[in-house]
Amino acid sequence: MPEIALRPCTLADHEAINSLWHGCGLHPSRSDTLDGLARKLERDPELFLLAVADDEVIGTVLGSYDGRRGWINRLAVRQDWRGKGLADRLMAEVERRLVALGCDKVNLLIEPENAGVQTYYERLGYGTDPLIFMEKWLG
Ligand SMILES: CC(C)(COP(=O)(O)OP(=O)(O)OC[C@H]1O[C@@H](n2cnc3c(N)ncnc32)[C@H](O)[C@@H]1OP(=O)(O)O)[C@@H](O)C(=O)NCCC(=O)NCCS
Repeated sequence: MPEIALRPCTLADHEAINSLWHGCGLHPSRSDTLDGLARKLERDPELFLLAVADDEVIGTVLGSYDGRRGWINRLAVRQDWRGKGLADRLMAEVERRLVALGCDKVNLLIEPENAGVQTYYERLGYGTDPLIFMEKWLG
C-alpha cells in the first residue's frame, strides 16, 4: 500500500479536490472557485488538509477557525480508499491543529440526504444540537 501523507491544500490542488468532492457526492458551492480557494488559503491554510498517496489527492478535510469556533467542512475520502481509517486520521489532525490555535469547540453540518454519516461523527464524540440553521448568500 502506498504511503499516505497529510499536507495542507494549495491552489494547485483546486481541480483535484473538486473532482474528488464530485466523486464523493459533495455538491460544488459557489465558494469552490479558484478565487474562493485562494481566499480560504489566505486565512488558515494549515486547517485545509489533504490526504495524498502517489501524488493523488484521496481525502480532504476543510477546517476553519473564526477565533471563537472551529468548523469542519468537506470531509471526503475517495471510494477506493474508504474503510481504512483515513477520515479518522484527517479528523484527528484537523482537531489537533484547532486545539493548537486555542479552539475549544468545533461544529459541523450534515446535508439531510447524507444523514447516515451522523453515526460516523458520533463515533468521534460529536453530538447533535436541535438548532435552526439559517443562511444568506451575500452579493
Ligand atoms: C464519511 C467518509 C469521509 C468516511 O471515510 P473513511 O475513510 O471510509 O472513514 P474511516 O475509514 O475513518 O471510517 C471509520 C468508521 O466510520 C464508518 N463510516 C464511514 N462512513 C460512514 C457513513 N457514511 N455512515 C456511517 N458510518 C460510516 C466506517 O464503517 C468505519 O467504522 P468501523 O471502524 O467501525 O468499521 C467517507 O465515507 C466519505 O467520503 N463519504 C462521502 C462524503 C461525506 O459524506 N462526507 C461527510 C460530509 S458531512
